[in-house]
Amino acid sequence: MLPVAVVISGRGSNMEAIARAAQRPGAAFKVVRVVADRESAAGLARAQALAIPTSVVPFGQYPDRESFDVALAADLEASGARLIALAGFMRILSTGFVERFAGRLLNIHPSLLPKYKGLDTHARALAARDSHHGASVHYVTPELDGGPVIVQGKLRILAGDTADALSARVHALEHIIYPHACSLVASGRVQWRQGAIYFDGSPLAAPLVEESDVAA
Ligand code: GRF
Repeated sequence: MLPVAVVISGRGSNMEAIARAAQRPGAAFKVVRVVADRESAAGLARAQALAIPTSVVPFGQYPDRESFDVALAADLEASGARLIALAGFMRILSTGFVERFAGRLLNIHPSLLPKYKGLDTHARALAARDSHHGASVHYVTPELDGGPVIVQGKLRILAGDTADALSARVHALEHIIYPHACSLVASGRVQWRQGAIYFDGSPLAAPLVEESDVAA
């Protein structure tokens, strides 16, 4: 079973989806630790309720980002994790950190990348009158939200959608695609080779897509 650490800043609903998937019979991965950058992260209690070890690397107690990243890296290495899933982690990691964990670091972003890197993705998709929106699980590279995408969850934007309504539907989709991506990596079907994704032994030309119109 592939040991996975999940790194959070907030509520941790994606962390919980990953952890619950890991606890199902036949899962190819297990969550060995949940790490937060602040004591107040609500997801810590959710992890403890699932009997998952937690730790906090309090960002505010480090003089700069580099020293925080060194402490976070040490915590993650100590966990024994071989895959690290950023799930609502609200910090930008230094290039040194990202390169150290290259090929072992995933993130989920609430847009159909490469569209809408950064913040306010739901409002931006609405403002652009896009027909579809969704979320992407990608390998992390030094370019923010720019690493190769493994899987996307895609849904239709409905007439009258608000950013909040869209956010809720995208979230439900995230809870499906993030555990799925972890399974694909853990089973070896998805592999990182020198900056590119291989799927079942061949280069992945485009992200895997799960289409869904899950209700909020
Ligand atoms: C998700 O929308 C994710 O795409 C983004 O942060 C949010 C985290 O939500 N990176 P949660 O903490 O997993 O509930």
